[in-house]
Formats: sequence, C-alpha cells, structure tokens
Amino acid sequence: MDRIRIIGGNKLHGTIPISGAKNAALPLMIAALLSDETLILDNVPRLADVAQLQRILGNHGVDIMAAGKRPGDHEYQGQTLHISAKNIIDTTAPYELVSKMRASFWVIAPLLARMHEAKVSLPGGCAIGTRPVDLLIMALEKLGAEISIDGGYVIAKAPGGLKGATIEFPKVTVSGTHVALMAATLAKGSTIISNAACEPEIADVADCLNKMGAKITGAGTPRILIEGVGTLHGARHTVLPDRIETGTYAMAVAMTGGEVQLSGARPELLQAALDVLIQAGVSITPNNDGIKVARNGAGISPVTVTTAPFPGFPTDLQAQLMALMTRAKGASHITETIFENRFMHVQELARFGAKISLDGETATIDGVSQLRGAPVMATDLRASVSLVIAALAADGETMVNRIYHLDRGFERLEEKLSACGATIERISG
Ligand code: EPZ
Repeated sequence: MDRIRIIGGNKLHGTIPISGAKNAALPLMIAALLSDETLILDNVPRLADVAQLQRILGNHGVDIMAAGKRPGDHEYQGQTLHISAKNIIDTTAPYELVSKMRASFWVIAPLLARMHEAKVSLPGGCAIGTRPVDLLIMALEKLGAEISIDGGYVIAKAPGGLKGATIEFPKVTVSGTHVALMAATLAKGSTIISNAACEPEIADVADCLNKMGAKITGAGTPRILIEGVGTLHGARHTVLPDRIETGTYAMAVAMTGGEVQLSGARPELLQAALDVLIQAGVSITPNNDGIKVARNGAGISPVTVTTAPFPGFPTDLQAQLMALMTRAKGASHITETIFENRFMHVQELARFGAKISLDGETATIDGVSQLRGAPVMATDLRASVSLVIAALAADGETMVNRIYHLDRGFERLEEKLSACGATIERISG
C-alpha cells in the first residue's frame, strides 16, 4: 500500500493550480444518466472516486470516453469526459460497487426518473458518522416513487413516471437536494424543494441540468423550483473549482508560512473559511487569477469555529483547520455540527504532540510551539489531509500510511506541494 513521506519545516512558495471540484464532478457525471445524448464535462479531476464512479456508470451501460491531452494543454488541466447514457442496460447498482463510495447511491434518482425503476445497494463511504439515506427516500416518495428495502438494497419503482411535489427537508442535506433535483427534472409538473442545501456544487449541477434543457430556478438558495420536462438533451459543462482543495492549501500555507498563489480558485466559494484564516492572522488577497495566501513572521491566532451548511464554515475543512490550530498561540474551539463522528483525526494529530481534548461535538485545541513528525494513519479523506498539513510544519519525518483516502479526493497532492518547496514523496508498495 502506498505511503507518503514528509520532512517538515519548509515554507511554501509558488503557485498551486486548483482542480475541478470532486463534489460537483460526481453528481454531474451521475446527471448524465438523465439523457440519452452525450454530456461533455470539462475540468473533471483525476481522482480515485471519479474512476470508481466511471466503473459504476459503466455497469449501467454508460459509455465514457476520456479525451486525451491536446498540445498546449496545461499539465494540471482536468480531464474532459464524454459521457453517453444512450442505452441503460441495467438499473441495478450492486453492493460491491456502491459500498466503496457513498455518492454512487445517488444514481437512484436519474435511473428512477428516466427508467422508472432502480435497485441500488445501501451506500458505504467515509467513516464519519451514520449517514443515513432516509431523507433521500422521503424525497423520492414525495415524487411518487414506491420504495422498499430488501436484502440491503433500496428498490424504487414509479410505473407511470415521477410526479412533481413539494419537498420540505427537515434538515439541510446535500445528498437529499441533489437527489430531489435530479429526479424532479423529468417529473410531470412542478416541484418545490424547500430548506434545500445551498452549496455551490448544487448550483453547478443545476446550471448543467439547465444546459441540458431542464427548467430549474433558485438553485444555490434554500428554495428551488423545478418545472418537469419530458426529456433532457446533451450539453457541455465545465466543473467549478474545488473550494475544499482551495481551503486545504490555504491552510497548508498558513501552517508553514510563505506565499502561494492558488490559481483558478474562487474566493466567494469559501468566504467563511477565508474569514477564519484572516482572523487567524493569515493574509488573503483575491486577484484575477485566484487567491494569494501568505503568512510571514507572525504566528497563528486561535479561533472559535462551528461548522455549518453553506455559506457557513464547511465540515470538509474542519480537520484541516484543527491541524492548523495545533500551533496557534492559545486555545481554539471547533464545534462539528454536521457529522457526529468526524473527529477521527484527533488521535492521529496527538501523535505529532498536539494537545486536543473532546467534549461532545466540541474540540478544544491548545496550541503548542512545535509539532514532531510521527508515523500516522490516514482515516477518512479530509482527516488524511489534515495529517499532511501537520507534517509539513512538524520537526523531522512523518510517514502517512493508508493514503488511498487522499487519492480519492486530492489530485496530485504531493506534486502540487513539492513544486512549492515541500519535502514530500510517495513511496509505492
Ligand atoms: C456531502 O455529503 C459531501 N459529499 C460531503 O463531502 C460533505 O461533508 C457533506 O455533503 C456536507 O457538506 C459529496 O458531495 C459527495 P449531507 P452528503 O446529505 O451529501 C444527515 C468529502 O469529504 N442526513 O448534506 O452525504 C447526514 O447524516 C465528503 O468530500 C440524514 O440524516 O451530506 C448528515 O448529518 C464527506 N438523512 C447531514 O444530514 C439523510 O437521508 C448532512 O449530510 C441524508 C443526510
């Protein structure tokens, strides 16, 4: 199994290109199931989760062609996928495939909307909480689906097609909103989604669906209105930049010191996180090409942060912020409100000498003046990268084991960091 070896202590200087957003690319690829024409997606990141979803879509009969690089293409430019779901040959998504990645469960929505049936295994994914699918099922039932659960599979049928409805989510859910949105595009009549998730990835998917002929307004706000249409057609869409990757590298620079241009980043996608970094003493300068992040001289000030749905501070940056606060000048408090078990990184950060105590959903981090490198284990995706951030500033060598989690969500992490002066290498085997 591959490992990553890091020798800490180098400041980061240079440019890091930001990739397309994993959490938009996955639902965009799934949305291709809604049409029998080709959906072309540009700027798709090269990630293990994308490759896994290609296998899952392939199982339904979807053809995916990855266009090769053209002369003049930037070496970090994402790939272009031509996704054609002309013939759906199988409406079952089996356990072996779905258990590896939670988002693959979302195929239930387009399969049901277009084929009027789907049988999808209950999902797996990162171990960050129980992560039920009750609200996804509720949304599909509101749209007229008949749903049963048998042998670990959700079996959904809508013999006469889905019908528009009012769906009111009792809590904000990204997965629930994606599923309701995709299903409602082909439902008869109009659908209102209220208390919808406002994450930029939802708006990106809605933009793409509208290019495919859907009639969606209000995506990116808590109230989305969808007028169902009979069919969707092909389109071409560019995946928006990854706000979590952006925030992660911003925190890495804050941790090591130095100055890095995050090229292609869009500050408005992560303003809450940038505000927290500014409060911590980091210099953040939006410019034409993205965001410049710098920390020179002064140390890191402690912060108090609570994770929240967009536009709040994202749970997907909580572990990285915690790594940064291990070296703050004082005590920080981080409260996790989205996932009840998203503190797997706490015990691993302790191996560096970090001082963190947990009380329910709140972590108190007492900053220490220096971390020391250690062998650590990557647990979930964002927890893994928090260990990389700690290692970049720690004295001596860190070996990060089980890095397949990192490959699920960070494209060419070690190349991007070493180009800015970090001592980081992948050890195969
Ligand atoms: C998405 O997960 C992201 N995944 C997650 O990113 C992210 O952490 C999360 O949204 C929150 O922003 C993708 O986009 C692929 P939710 P999702 O439905 O959609 C509860 C990463 O590291 N809930 O918004 O699964 C749920 O348990 C990943 O890239 C129900 O109770 O999250 C949680 O407490 C990890 N019933 C809360 O809602 C349901 O039916 C929010 O979950 C569905 C969810």
